[in-house]
Amino acid sequence: MSAGMGGFWPEPWLPQSLGSPGLALAAGLLLLVLCLSARRTRRRGEPPLIKGWLPYFGQALKLQKDPLGFMTTLQKQYGDIFTLLLGGKYITFILDPFHYTSVAKNQKLSFQIFTNKFLKRVFSIKKMITDSDLIDEIHSTYQFLQGKHLDILMESTMQNLKQVFEPQLLKTTSWNTEYLLPFCNSVIFETTFTTIYGNVLADDKKTFITELKDDFLKFDEKFTRLASGIPIELLGNLKSVRTKLIKDLTIESLAKLQGLSEVVQRRNDILEKYYMPKDTEIGAHHLGLLWASVTNTVPTMFWAMYYLLRHPKAMAVLRDEIDHLLQSTGQKKGPGFSIYLTREQLDSLVYLESTILEVLRLCSFSGIFRFVQEDLTLHLESQDCCLRKGDFVVIFPPILHHDPEIFEAPEEFRFDRFTENAPPLNVKLKKMND
Ligand code: HEM
Repeated sequence: MSAGMGGFWPEPWLPQSLGSPGLALAAGLLLLVLCLSARRTRRRGEPPLIKGWLPYFGQALKLQKDPLGFMTTLQKQYGDIFTLLLGGKYITFILDPFHYTSVAKNQKLSFQIFTNKFLKRVFSIKKMITDSDLIDEIHSTYQFLQGKHLDILMESTMQNLKQVFEPQLLKTTSWNTEYLLPFCNSVIFETTFTTIYGNVLADDKKTFITELKDDFLKFDEKFTRLASGIPIELLGNLKSVRTKLIKDLTIESLAKLQGLSEVVQRRNDILEKYYMPKDTEIGAHHLGLLWASVTNTVPTMFWAMYYLLRHPKAMAVLRDEIDHLLQSTGQKKGPGFSIYLTREQLDSLVYLESTILEVLRLCSFSGIFRFVQEDLTLHLESQDCCLRKGDFVVIFPPILHHDPEIFEAPEEFRFDRFTENAPPLNVKLKKMND
């Protein structure tokens, strides 16, 4: 897993380096789509169309190299709405935060169609494309990640973290950046897996978790290539790695674990209604959930540790804040002491919260995708914007996060930026909050 925070939905337009069979296929594909993609022209009412000189890939290489810099340049040149050709897809970017709700709430812009295509391609979950009842039922399980259910998950996360953190900490002797990532991978993967899927009872618990983690990392390493549409057969042994992961997460395999979370239990009940018990697609659903729960958390932890290690003042303030809370709750830190904090107590750690928000502001480059189900016109305050069926629309918050009119010195890490003591936010954001 790279420590680049791509967000939950990876950028499916980004081309990746290919092996030689991949190159041959890409060349064939290029020729095939050359004529088609070059033909499109901007229609009346549509946003500026930027295709670039490279057929099919369009502007993908520039975007991959420097997403923020490239977007900022395009914003200056074309304004807050424009359509890019990226990896054979036409994607309209909406950069003005005042337009986010028009996109997010428009019924004709589907999140589900986007995710279903994605789920089929990357996890080989096919039934979500055809069965809307299954989609609805799976979505209903997300309530077990919220509210009072989240309190239960949080408690279990804390207990598991105690078991996982100390041995990992003692094992790690060097704190170079290069060791920081494997540390975060191990801690987050094992803690998350145990919290959601339960404990491995067998004697070979460590081997099972380590192998699962290693396979998971191999899968994640090639994930963006898979999501960008490259056939799995061209991605080395990825297919067998994915098959093994899916097998490790079938109902039969999960039966060997103790303490499944509510969300997984409920998911299993639903999946058993739609699939035969031995259907491996059940494991594919679980791989999807495992991937969602780990891949955003690792880079968040990595970058938080990275910035704290580089900013001793921030580290000192956070230590102080945590020490105070422990003192006031009569708890001690150090080996052998177990710490328990309620959600309310965690919420009182305002400097810790601000640090995490600052890390997400600085390091997350994810966009929020929607699929255009039919030709439509978005009626925006400043202009009308025609969208074509089959295209994608993306809201891209990183541009807001790095806007100097909103965040003073946006390139700087300021751990207290989101606390009440911080200087007031700039005018543009205030207007949004009103
Ligand atoms: C720092 C940690 C995390 C970040 C930054 C993050 C971010 C995101 C984002 C940006 C989305 C897409 C929302 C959209 O496009 O509308 C998403 C979806 C999702 N996340 Fe997370 N996430 C994190 C941790 C987790 C964890 C720990 C879990 C599970 C235990 C989880 C489960 C999910 C699921 C199931 C979805 C899909 C929701 C749907 O299909 O409606 N995430 N996450």
